[in-house]
Amino acid sequence: MNELDFLRRRRSVPSRLLGEPGPSPDQVLAMLAEAVRVPDHGKLVPWRFLRIQGPDRATLGEILARRSLERDPQAAPAAVEKDRQRFSQAPLVLAVIGRLTPGHKVPEQEQLLSGGAVCFALLQAAQALGFGAQWLTGWAAYDPVVTARLGLVAGETVLGFIHVGTPSELAPERQRPDPAALLGDWTP
Ligand SMILES: Cc1cc2nc3c(=O)[nH]c(=O)nc-3n(C[C@H](O)[C@H](O)[C@H](O)COP(=O)(O)O)c2cc1C
Repeated sequence: MNELDFLRRRRSVPSRLLGEPGPSPDQVLAMLAEAVRVPDHGKLVPWRFLRIQGPDRATLGEILARRSLERDPQAAPAAVEKDRQRFSQAPLVLAVIGRLTPGHKVPEQEQLLSGGAVCFALLQAAQALGFGAQWLTGWAAYDPVVTARLGLVAGETVLGFIHVGTPSELAPERQRPDPAALLGDWTP
């Protein structure tokens, strides 16, 4: 079972524990090269990427903080501050953007699933390179004002923000489901 060691050991690190250094530009391209090698029915490439790094992370945080107050003028200052910091922990955030082709013979669900596979492949690629990473969404991923500021157009959605950096500490393993308990045998 040694072949499965990496997969068995990998786990996400919360974004608040991720700091410098992040991946180099070459490492980012290497990660993306793995991420695009996912099953994609019909070769529709129903996804794209956005790189968020450097001072732009704080700018996005400001957009979130302002929008957070717009959505809820009574929002607690701590919650608004949390939103302001959301993209400022890890040095790199890669947004995976789904772009579905409606009415195609490949159902939208399959296009979406391919995008989910991209997110996980990207997460694993970052972890395989020795970085800590976490797949997050949060309200901002679904907020039309924020997604417009990210440059998404009609038909596009945020499938995940993959935060990548160097872990300041090892995250504890989380409880995993028992696969045997989830397995049933089909009997005709
Ligand atoms: C689509 C998606 C969105 C997620 N969004 C969040 C989030 O906003 N906040 C959060 O704490 N965890 C979120 N998670 C969960 C974490 O990414 C992840 O399950 C957890 O960190 C453990 O991951 P691991 O199995 O790689 O260790 C999300 C997971 C998925 C699949």
